[in-house]
Amino acid sequence: MSKTKTFFQCQSCGYTSPKWLGKCPDCAGWNTLVEEKVLPSHRRNAGIDSPGKAEPVALGAIEASSENRTLTGITEFDRVLGGGIVPGSVVLVGGDPGIGKSTLLLQTFSGLSRKSGKLLYVSGEESPRQIKMRADRLSVNPENIILLPETSLEGILDSAARLTPEAMVVDSIQTVFTQEMLSAPGSVGQVRECAAKLMLFAKRSGIPVFIIGHVTKEGTIAGPRVLEHIVDTVLYFEGDRGHSYRILRTIKNRFGSTNEIGVFEMSDSGLKEVDNPSELFLSERPRNVSGSIVVASLEGTRPLMVEVQALVSRTNFGMPRRTSIGVDFNRVNLLVAVLEKRAGLQLGGMDIFINVVGGLKILEPAVDMGIIATIASSAKEKPVNPRTFVFGEVGLSGEIRAVAQAEARLREAAKIGFRKAIIPAGNADKIRDNQGLEIVGVKDVEECSKTFFD
Ligand code: TYD
Ligand code: MG
Repeated sequence: MSKTKTFFQCQSCGYTSPKWLGKCPDCAGWNTLVEEKVLPSHRRNAGIDSPGKAEPVALGAIEASSENRTLTGITEFDRVLGGGIVPGSVVLVGGDPGIGKSTLLLQTFSGLSRKSGKLLYVSGEESPRQIKMRADRLSVNPENIILLPETSLEGILDSAARLTPEAMVVDSIQTVFTQEMLSAPGSVGQVRECAAKLMLFAKRSGIPVFIIGHVTKEGTIAGPRVLEHIVDTVLYFEGDRGHSYRILRTIKNRFGSTNEIGVFEMSDSGLKEVDNPSELFLSERPRNVSGSIVVASLEGTRPLMVEVQALVSRTNFGMPRRTSIGVDFNRVNLLVAVLEKRAGLQLGGMDIFINVVGGLKILEPAVDMGIIATIASSAKEKPVNPRTFVFGEVGLSGEIRAVAQAEARLREAAKIGFRKAIIPAGNADKIRDNQGLEIVGVKDVEECSKTFFD
């Protein structure tokens, strides 16, 4: 019998065991033991099989130009990547099963294949025939795209080294395994080890690698965020099953800004780019009803007009209910308190429901004014003019604070036909070009609730 080459280590306290245990005997954590490889003693410290011969280089002596990025031809995808594919980068595309990850990357390859050399699509999930059927439906340009139905990492790296493709997709990391570990494909140890090897391969060869990862039930990619540390860029593909559009979001990017989003629509012939998402999100907006307002929000560098709705009604139970979808629940409670105290609105016996239309999530504080406005509108049963929009942060003493990139928000609003902006006074003072909009600067919540309904 050969000697065991792996052991199990607790990821929270470092306890090691020769076999897997459900509960760590040391720190009592559940399900924290993960298979690790025993490295030969001379490699143990370096962690990788480099002999440690790297030379120090002066920063000024390194030549790097942003021009060597490759554009995929899918503008939304390029923007999310920070302006195209960086050679040797490893990009993780995560998302729920069935959201469209394979479709997105196949379409990306189709775009790339027109101007590049060989592209390698490794699939452990679908057979080449299944991929071909999908490719036909998507009218993919088959030129230069090579399929590899393989799940052994050693086999994949071998083929990749022989083919030297210009880009490579591994679909999905949960199906790939390395022979050096005993555990099943998809386990944390396997996923991390395979990703680390793909990373090493990408850095050495300069071939960009896209890794597709399914999100586990807990919402993280294959266990405790193991992959996010390893790769260069993490993208999440998200969307609501009830809606046809999908959002590609940057979570981490070593080569560009995070918080960028790309918006796609899933059609019967694949993913279509949505150039003007604001129009899409506002297309079914009800007219002249209370409890609805549009907020000019910012996702990365991209302004997005989204509708925030509120329903305020007298509670039938002793405890009023507060529910929020798409905005932070605690933020809503805080803003309700501010409205009560600073604008004299009686909300104590009211149920309050807040919803951001279209399944979007807005995390930036500029949505505060929208929440305030829509609650006030619903509570007073007065509609806000449908051509009015807001943005601004609200402080605890009821003051309205300026937010970043006011002009970009105004430009987007003007483009799709808004007329009036209610914005922080701090922003209004600095606006040079009002884009033909009527701009009302407000200082506090009291002043602001007066301005909404005229
Ligand atoms: P897929 O890319 O296989 O998802 P993932 O790789 O993330 O698991 O996408 C599958 C879903 O997309 C499936 O529910 C059907 C839908 N779809 C379309 O609506 N139109 C299309 O042209 C394609 C290819 C898929
Ligand atoms: Mg797939």
